[in-house]
Amino acid sequence: MTSELSPIDKAKFVAAKQATDYVKSGMKVGLGTGSTAAWLVQCLGEMVREEGLKIKGVPTSSRTAKLAQDVGIDVITLDEARWLDVTIDGTDEYDADLNLIKGGGGAHLQEKIVATASDRMIVIADASKKVDTLGAFPLPVEIIPFGARTTQALVEETLVGMDVLGREVTLRKAGDTPFVTDEGNHILDLNLKRIGNPRQLSLMLNQIPGVVENGLFLDICDTVIVGHGDGRVTVRDIEDDGGAEIHFNVLDDTNIFADLQD
Ligand code: 5RP
Repeated sequence: MTSELSPIDKAKFVAAKQATDYVKSGMKVGLGTGSTAAWLVQCLGEMVREEGLKIKGVPTSSRTAKLAQDVGIDVITLDEARWLDVTIDGTDEYDADLNLIKGGGGAHLQEKIVATASDRMIVIADASKKVDTLGAFPLPVEIIPFGARTTQALVEETLVGMDVLGREVTLRKAGDTPFVTDEGNHILDLNLKRIGNPRQLSLMLNQIPGVVENGLFLDICDTVIVGHGDGRVTVRDIEDDGGAEIHFNVLDDTNIFADLQD
């Protein structure tokens, strides 16, 4: 069964497995959303069930909350936790400064709130998420349903003055109807191709009244753990001078794929 994992799933898994090293008993842990974060939640669940790890998990979506409960993690709200030791989450893009685009799964609002309320944010990813310049992945912007068309028009108008390559804005759909977030909001996907000045763009977007939050995570992420299909893991930490990379070969130590369950 483990040999059936695709290289991309192996990459996500080893990144998640490596990230569990940063989680210790007694910690309050932000749990990200998406396919990579789901591996993390499963790994942590296994450590809770089989190794006696004691953590409180703060999920960043209803999906993650359900998964965390299913695998045996003690789930609390952010208001109960107030502040977290670490948040571990996936990403849609990261650049050399560890700035991110998130929200491909529609959860970037809770993800940003939770990551910002953490001593440390660790991103887990496969190598395809690395970019020279943010923007190839469409930037998600959460907007409230009231006046959504007006908000979209204001977003389009704002983009005219921005340093971006594309300006196509689409309302995210789930089938024939608008996608609805956990907060009951909608999402605009901004096809910008290249974002020349992410800070300016983030500020300008968030000034539009109907915009709740955009998917740019700037100066929030501390560490990126990149998994590779052959079991290698690369760690980039913002604290390292110039962002040194440390390579681990997770498969050297343990046959981790053999631990995976159906
Ligand atoms: C959800 C997110 C995810 O972290 C992002 O979309 C990456 O997902 P995946 O790990 O499935 O590639 O931001 O809102």
